[in-house]
Amino acid sequence: MADGAEAMKYTVVLTAAYPPVAREILAGEFDVIEHPTEPQRTEDELITILSEADAAITLLSDPLTRRVLESNPNVRIIANHAVGYNNIDLDAARELGITITNTPGVLTEATADFTMALILALTRRLVEGDREVRESGRCIWEPLHMLGTSIQGKRLGIIGIGRIGTAVAARAKAFGMEVVGVRRGNSMDALLATSDIVSIHTPLTPETHHMIDASALAKMKRGVFVINTARGPIIDENALCDALESGHLGGAALDVYEFEPAVNRRLLSMKNVVLAPHIGSATLETRSAMARIAATDVHRFLKGQKPLHAVT
Ligand code: GLV
Repeated sequence: MADGAEAMKYTVVLTAAYPPVAREILAGEFDVIEHPTEPQRTEDELITILSEADAAITLLSDPLTRRVLESNPNVRIIANHAVGYNNIDLDAARELGITITNTPGVLTEATADFTMALILALTRRLVEGDREVRESGRCIWEPLHMLGTSIQGKRLGIIGIGRIGTAVAARAKAFGMEVVGVRRGNSMDALLATSDIVSIHTPLTPETHHMIDASALAKMKRGVFVINTARGPIIDENALCDALESGHLGGAALDVYEFEPAVNRRLLSMKNVVLAPHIGSATLETRSAMARIAATDVHRFLKGQKPLHAVT
């Protein structure tokens, strides 16, 4: 920043409507430009809205590719309002000296809670039941009606024992489940062959892209339930649909999709599938904490301090 009274004010671009705390932290000292939330911006749209920015808070759906980063040399810090940052070309950011931050930690419990919600909704057929009551306007208790699967004593296989995977394990144990886990990069075969429910908690990287493909699905037990609250492209969605249609899988509960915002149409008519709109971290408390972290790191950086959650 230039010296003296004429010092320029930095501009922070918010690529969406984030919880108000983000603006509150930044607005006193910087110019803040807030753009309306778009489900999916193109690279060109992003290049345009970042052209005025010294710093930005971005969505996990904003494609921060090499072309976008190179087109906006003015942007020195990008705070991704998410724990995942697979939407950002980190190599390009490093080469261009752009600081990237994320929002780890504060969404662990909310996402683990939501994973349990999906496990229970799927195994207890909650969404199907809700639909039935609304459509029929009746509730009939019958001994053989809408029987689900108990989770007590069943084995939960957790792929990715990081912060969120560990928090899911603690919850599943409290429900009487037996829990097995694999770290990223280790063999999943034993977990796949023995788990009644498989839940995914790895980041999306080139190594985990389509990690659950037709061959991984074939290794799973017949009747297995698959849960994904991580990133859609970790599962080959077409292979998942094949395995659901063939009856090899008992069901799936998904919060994330391979081609968001699109959802594979084959999933839409399946009864044994629970589909959530990427809301694993969507509590007022958690989303506000994420916005606070992102804005605080931008604030620190523009004031010459080290951001607390830098990934580059
Ligand atoms: C949500 O999906 C996140 O990465 O924070």
